[in-house]
Formats: sequence, structure tokens, C-alpha cells
Amino acid sequence: MSPQITLRRAEQGDIPLLQRWDTAPHVRRAITGDPQVDPEHDWAEMLVPTVYIEHLLALLDDRPFAYFEVTDPAKEPSAYWGQDRPPGLRAIDIWIGDAEMIGRGFGTRAMRLVIERCFADPTVHALLVDPRPDNDAAISFFQSLGFRFTGHEVLSGEAAAVHRFDRAAWTGTT
Ligand SMILES: CC(C)(COP(=O)(O)OP(=O)(O)OC[C@H]1O[C@@H](n2cnc3c(N)ncnc32)[C@H](O)[C@@H]1OP(=O)(O)O)[C@@H](O)C(=O)NCCC(=O)NCCS
Repeated sequence: MSPQITLRRAEQGDIPLLQRWDTAPHVRRAITGDPQVDPEHDWAEMLVPTVYIEHLLALLDDRPFAYFEVTDPAKEPSAYWGQDRPPGLRAIDIWIGDAEMIGRGFGTRAMRLVIERCFADPTVHALLVDPRPDNDAAISFFQSLGFRFTGHEVLSGEAAAVHRFDRAAWTGTT
């Protein structure tokens, strides 16, 4: 039987795991652009539940292997996505923590579950992602899932290749 992928909320007890993933060169590169520079995540603060961000882990059977952040850009108080994003969007971040889990199709399977979870809310009409413009693997990954490039933007001072996935393009199958 092929291993099962499920999602659950990330909790305070997951902080050591998330901190370890933050030190992985592929995670550092995806977030800071430099494989030697840690992202400055204050996990204890980040994981406090809010109405505008959901923090999820994807599990392969019982083993967590990826982190997802699902944000409502219209409600997120730092206005990372700018001041003028309408309601009904969700922005998704993903990283697979352990390098050995990359390139095996698990990201695709987990991301499909997250897409399905987002569109289960009937008020959500489109999803956004913001890979760094030089993150070719992530850009191919998002495009293979159906995200379409909408343009380069500067989000909170960082360049991003923004991609969008409209509900109309979603077949509803995982
Ligand atoms: C990007 C990421 C989530 C992809 O997950 P994954 O499980 O490795 O990807 P999959 O094995 O499901 O691959 C699906 C498709 O993505 C693309 N892809 C994945 N890795 C790639 C690579 N290194 N180079 C080019 N394309 C790649 C391919 O189109 C691939 O389809 P194919 O296998 O038929 O060629 C994962 O590699 C990761 O966590 N990377 C580090 C963090 C990151 O960059 N996150 C995105 C930040 S916005």
C-alpha cells in the first residue's frame, strides 16, 4: 500500500522540528536566498492561532515532512501582500524539511491536499504563491500543479515570482 499523506495543524510541540528544518540549506535558500542564512522565524509567536494564518504539517504516514503556511492576504496585519488584495484569496508557502524527502512526488501530493482544503471554503476564489524568481524548482513545481505566473512583484522588500491558481482552473480532484 502506498504511504498515506495527511495534514494536521502545527503546534508548539513541533517547534524543535521546525527549528531544525530552518537550518537545512535548501530551506534557507528558498526563504532567505542564501543556503547559509537562517530564516528569522519566531516559531513560538508564529504558531499562536490567528484568523489570518494557518500553520500545517504534512505527514507521510506518521512522519511530518513538510510545513505549509496558508495566509489570508486581506487580513494579514503586516500587509505582506500589499494593502489592496481583495478578500477571497489564500497565499500558500511550502517547504519540505528533510532533503531526502525532496523530488519524490510527496510535495505534489501534499500541495493538492492543501489546495483542496483552501477551496473547501466557498469564499476562496484563488490561491497565490510567491517563490523567489531564482527558485526554478519551486516555480516548476507550482506550474506543474496548475499555478500560472502573474508577474514579478516586490513583497515586503523581496522579489517574488507571483503565481496564481483560480478556482475555475481547479478540477476538484486530488
Ligand atoms: C519545491 C518543493 C515543495 C517541491 O516538492 P517536491 O516533493 O520536491 O516536488 P515533486 O517531487 O512533487 O515534483 C513535482 C514537480 O515539480 C517540479 N520540480 C520539483 N523539483 C524540481 C527541480 N529540482 N527542478 C526542476 N523542477 C522540479 C517538476 O515539474 C516536478 O515534476 P516531475 O517530477 O514530473 O518533473 C520542494 O522541493 C521544497 O520544499 N523545496 C525547498 C523549499 C521551497 O523551495 N519551497 C517553495 C518556496 S515558495
